[in-house]
Amino acid sequence: KLGVFTYDPAFFSTSSCTSQITFIDGDAGLLYYRGYPIEQLADKSDFLEVCYLLLKGELPNKAQKDEFKSVITRHTMVHDQLARFYNGFRRDAHPMAVMVGVVGALSAFYHDSLDVNNPQNREISAHRLLAKVPTIAAMAYKYNIGETFMHPRNKFSYVENFMYMMFATPAEEYVPNPVLVRALERIFILHADHEQNASTSTVRLAGSSGANPFACIASGIAALWGPAHGGANEAALKMLEEIGDVSRVADYVQGVKDKKYKLMGFGHRVYKNMDPRASVMRQTCYEVLKELNLENDKLFQLAMELEKTALNDSYFIERKLYPNVDFYSGIVLRAIGIPTNMFTVIFAVARTIGWVSQWNEMVGDAEQKIGRPRQLYRGATRRDFVPLAKR
Ligand code: SDX
Repeated sequence: KLGVFTYDPAFFSTSSCTSQITFIDGDAGLLYYRGYPIEQLADKSDFLEVCYLLLKGELPNKAQKDEFKSVITRHTMVHDQLARFYNGFRRDAHPMAVMVGVVGALSAFYHDSLDVNNPQNREISAHRLLAKVPTIAAMAYKYNIGETFMHPRNKFSYVENFMYMMFATPAEEYVPNPVLVRALERIFILHADHEQNASTSTVRLAGSSGANPFACIASGIAALWGPAHGGANEAALKMLEEIGDVSRVADYVQGVKDKKYKLMGFGHRVYKNMDPRASVMRQTCYEVLKELNLENDKLFQLAMELEKTALNDSYFIERKLYPNVDFYSGIVLRAIGIPTNMFTVIFAVARTIGWVSQWNEMVGDAEQKIGRPRQLYRGATRRDFVPLAKR
């Protein structure tokens, strides 16, 4: 027996894997990180503590938590030469394009001294990525808007530091809003890991060849960018802006049913019930908007009307289509002051710990072989070459 279900060993062919990190029950709408329900972690934990849990398998005690925070805090700066990398991009380059390039470029700084088969080397790489990806992300935002880079400040928490690097300027003191910090902390926790999704599977496949973790995480960022995956939060907010008014919800839903387009932020490869993260996200959305006196935010009202309409429509019920983590996250991110072109970057910052933990688990498994998915060949049968004159 594996957990609560038996499993068919034949199912675990070379194209799938076993893991001890994240458990999902798509029919029941359950999500556990190392056995802890996501709702409890989002409510009671903080992001660095969840990172420790995902990477090492247990919640840290006080001494372990303080040491982990100290190590990560001391790795948040990036090499000055890496900062020059940004100048190669156009200012209006999508921040995800910058993330793929700059995170991949970390290989050039750490690759040659790295033995992925050495657990200490893997741990140092994990710490470097966890610490530096937020700095690289904030720099991508600053570069995009033409503002100077803000260096990390060790006095801040992990999430406060990220918001400082994103929103502070040298001109004035930055005081983080605790409600917005807590909201972003919760978003990071909800997005931290999610079993073998497309981007994590990409990281595992890249890592199974022995490639260095920086290049592997860059491949995960590339896979996450797609609108069917991590790009859905940006697409969902654009969809709400396109609908524009509650009065247009019925027409828009009809367009979905006529298969003209999909409802972004709805549906899931695994969840055929409510994505447990969407429920937490909806509550977070309400708390943030209330804090900002925006309870009547038009897009939030629109999202709730769209959810209610879809959940009572047989088209969606028959197809088991429910809101997923991306349906409300865009509204929260926008309320925090994060622009839409940074939404998937936020997802990548949060998911880095999931990618790194899954990479570390896989590379640390001595039985692991290089990934080599097979195919069902549907092409031409054998035939002889035809000279040009006879074609
Ligand atoms: C993430 O894998 C992960 O864990 C990913 C993720 C993570 O944390 O890593 O959870 C993050 O990627 C969440 C998903 C974000 N993407 C979106 O919100 C984009 C919109 N969603 C769809 O693109 C879609 O739902 C997918 C890609 C997520 C899933 O697509 P599937 O597997 O094709 O969905 P399905 O097999 O359940 O579809 C069943 C039916 C089909 O219609 P019929 O052919 O039966 O008539 O439902 C339809 C689909 O066309 N359908 C939708 C729909 N999603 C599926 N119809 C309208 N709107 C949608 N969103």
